[in-house]
Amino acid sequence: MATSLHSALTREETTSRSALSPEQVFEIVRAREAALSRLLMAFIVSGLVFMLFPGTLLGVWNLLQISGRESVGLISPAWLQAHGHAQVFGWIGSFLLGIGFYSIPKLRDSGTKVIRAAWVCWVMWTMGVAIRWTATVYLWNWRLLLPVSGVLELMAFLIFFWIVSKHRPKDSGERALEPWVWVVMSATMGFLLAVAANLVGSFYVALRGASPAFPHGFDQRYLALLGWGFLVPFIWGFSAKWMRVFLGLKPLRPRILFSAVLLNLVGVALAVAGNFRLATWFLLLAAGMSVVAIRIFETSEQEAKIRGIHWSFPLFVRMAYGWLLVAALLGVAASRFDTSGGIWGASRHALTVGVVAIMVLSVGQRILPAFAGMRLLWSPKLMFIGLALLATGCTLRVSCEVLAYQGYASWPWQVLPVSALVELTALTLFATNILGTFVLQPSHAIKEPMHVSVSQLVALSNSR
Ligand code: HEM
Repeated sequence: MATSLHSALTREETTSRSALSPEQVFEIVRAREAALSRLLMAFIVSGLVFMLFPGTLLGVWNLLQISGRESVGLISPAWLQAHGHAQVFGWIGSFLLGIGFYSIPKLRDSGTKVIRAAWVCWVMWTMGVAIRWTATVYLWNWRLLLPVSGVLELMAFLIFFWIVSKHRPKDSGERALEPWVWVVMSATMGFLLAVAANLVGSFYVALRGASPAFPHGFDQRYLALLGWGFLVPFIWGFSAKWMRVFLGLKPLRPRILFSAVLLNLVGVALAVAGNFRLATWFLLLAAGMSVVAIRIFETSEQEAKIRGIHWSFPLFVRMAYGWLLVAALLGVAASRFDTSGGIWGASRHALTVGVVAIMVLSVGQRILPAFAGMRLLWSPKLMFIGLALLATGCTLRVSCEVLAYQGYASWPWQVLPVSALVELTALTLFATNILGTFVLQPSHAIKEPMHVSVSQLVALSNSR
């Protein structure tokens, strides 16, 4: 199978299209679509592995340790950071790169070379994240391996960036780019800066540090860049592109969205400069404006597209935006009242679990089955149970983290381990559902030769 796909793809590179029969062109298009789906599935599966083991299991272990000792200060910062890196770069980063490659129509036109480059990107990214986690947790040759992993991640990202930056939608002509494209471009720049900052931090600790952990001050600024400079703008960009269709929302307000992106940039810049008090107000304002721009809480104009998934999908997407406001409010509170890392931690997890993870579990289960060879989601029921558990775990975690860490009450120390296990179960169900979809659901891949864009695939999956 692999050989026939390869030869079909290579044939097109050596033969002009006009010399091919319609059947051959059909075979090439189908082979390319299959190759892209395989690439996407590789990124998704490695992302799921990073999420489950180096990410969530280590996060749960850290939280059990923190709850047992009733202090975050007694835990190895290197282990906390290894968890954060595996989640943000290993899970979310792999998903974004995979979906990014899959969504570029250029890959459908430009032959095996580009697809091969995307595979090289996958290998480098996966090795970079895995090496970083291993060296940080086991302290094995970390002075050498941390910079090596940072270089691998940056090179992988640059391959992605190079392929994406050469792409301009075919049908766009001289027309201005759509608003969501600008927002995703700003998020991509945030991603690049985060990867670059990670490399700088890795070299710094390799040369000067006593352990692989970034110094606290640097880490706080780096986390602001990661959360608000990279993850949040991606959520806004994809919401601007897809939520109108998925949730039947009223039309986007582009100017307000651009203002939100601008305010957010100022907030991130202030945080990176160390002025967290002012920064968090800008981030709160930006979050509020994004809600107004995307009109996420307004009544829908049209019915939500929920065929094949659980009917609660629109509820959870809206809930993610509720968590965005909570995260921003907690950030303002943290910059004034935090004495223990608890309010910062709560704000961070309102953002990473409440916003990012809930969004990925919702939208991921909505789009990935279609992208991975036109499959149907294995179990809509499992989707609901996973999301409901994640929302419950996040609520317990965020509220109890403030109360326990700040010393306002001691009973929440007993609840925190429960919250970790509930979140772990939720994420395991998500991984099971996606893997079940890839392995057990039949593929209804394209039966006719055609160019298929992401929106067409989504439309196709809606009509089934
Ligand atoms: C089962 C779910 C999770 C558990 C139990 C967990 C646990 C933890 C713990 C205990 C910390 C240390 C700081 C604190 O006490 O707040 C932490 C930090 C962090 N977590 Fe999580 N987490 C989970 C999910 C996630 C997810 C889904 C993401 C991202 C998508 C994430 C990203 C981070 C980041 C970036 C940090 C900061 C690391 C640093 O200090 O540099 N976590 N997490």
